Amino acid sequence: MPESSVNRRIIVAERPRYSVPNTSAFRMTTAPTPRPGDGELLIRTTWLGIEPYLYGRVKPTSSQAQPVPLGEVMVGPTIGRVAISNHPDYAEGDIVQGFWGWQDYSLSDGSRVSKVDPQLPRPSYGLGALGMSGFAAYIAVNEYLKVQRGETLIFGAALGGLGQMIGQLGRMRGARTIGGVSGSKKLRYGMDVLGFDVCLDRTADDFKARCAEEFSRHGVDCYAMSGTGGVLQLALPHFNLHARIAACGVMSFYSTVKLPAGPDQTMVVFNEINVKRISVNGLVALDWFGTPLHQQFQKEMKGWILSDQVKVVEHVVDGLEHAPDTLQGVFEGRNFGKAVVHVAD
Ligand SMILES: NC(=O)c1ccc[n+]([C@@H]2O[C@H](COP(=O)([O-])OP(=O)(O)OC[C@H]3O[C@@H](n4cnc5c(N)ncnc54)[C@H](OP(=O)(O)O)[C@@H]3O)[C@@H](O)[C@H]2O)c1
Repeated sequence: MPESSVNRRIIVAERPRYSVPNTSAFRMTTAPTPRPGDGELLIRTTWLGIEPYLYGRVKPTSSQAQPVPLGEVMVGPTIGRVAISNHPDYAEGDIVQGFWGWQDYSLSDGSRVSKVDPQLPRPSYGLGALGMSGFAAYIAVNEYLKVQRGETLIFGAALGGLGQMIGQLGRMRGARTIGGVSGSKKLRYGMDVLGFDVCLDRTADDFKARCAEEFSRHGVDCYAMSGTGGVLQLALPHFNLHARIAACGVMSFYSTVKLPAGPDQTMVVFNEINVKRISVNGLVALDWFGTPLHQQFQKEMKGWILSDQVKVVEHVVDGLEHAPDTLQGVFEGRNFGKAVVHVAD
């Protein structure tokens, strides 16, 4: 396939001025497509994974990694096809993944890339179900929460990359699954297609009342926290003895610049943690990459997907130029499934 001589690159143009990442933080530029030297690969980007944590790579400070310097290409989980190989371990047409980010082409010396399993139904699954979000869900459900049959598991963003996997893995372990979503379309899909026992619409007027109703039915044993801190306050009175919380991220906090107004509830939370003997663990899936658990996850998750025990819901957006708006969209709940950008075949 003839390759373009122009490499479109989306750079970080300015630090965000708004609490939600917005498209003005990025600019499309062009450069000549680079030529691979000895031992190098030219990779044609085919898919981008759009993750909430990428906002931390645009903001001036980030707790987990340095922000991308202004004028540099925006990073992110990426899949591509080897267009030219001068490397003994890679052949033209191999599908690889790495973190080279929002550009049509990238050079690699073979380090920091890995081959994508050709048996996957879609290579983009390497970005979500078999990527960071699927692995985080696997660790949360199996290692941190140790979800048991008959227990109640609650989780946010139930159709997002992480939530859809938390709910399905929890369901496979026999839990009663209660997921938060925005909107009735996601609510119905979560229950009818993904098989969650209950979905609660965080935009509905009766959200708080519905949470109280569902959380009080059998109490709450496991909470995979990823959406909004508000749910913690709603769940707190209903936690069962020895409940577990996996703190996977707090979407609503990423886009705030200061602590929310109102009385400090920290001690109320810690009091409940104490009296109910609740365990809380912070989870960052990256810490576990390359471990035996990671290999076990990849094998098991692939099997579950191929046997249709786990469904993968993707929100596919076409065109590199739409990556910035897609990132903004995950903070606005516009994604219906794991957000991925299709750049080329
Ligand atoms: N610890 C880890 O290793 C790890 C790995 C993956 C993800 N995460 C974290 O898990 C969370 C979800 O990630 P993801 O990849 O599943 O996200 P995603 O697929 O991009 O979905 C994001 C979803 O979050 C919900 N949301 C957006 N703003 C929100 C807000 N202010 N309050 C509550 N919900 C909001 C929206 O769903 P609705 O509109 O339907 O509610 C949105 O569709 C993030 O905090 C992310 O950083 C952590």
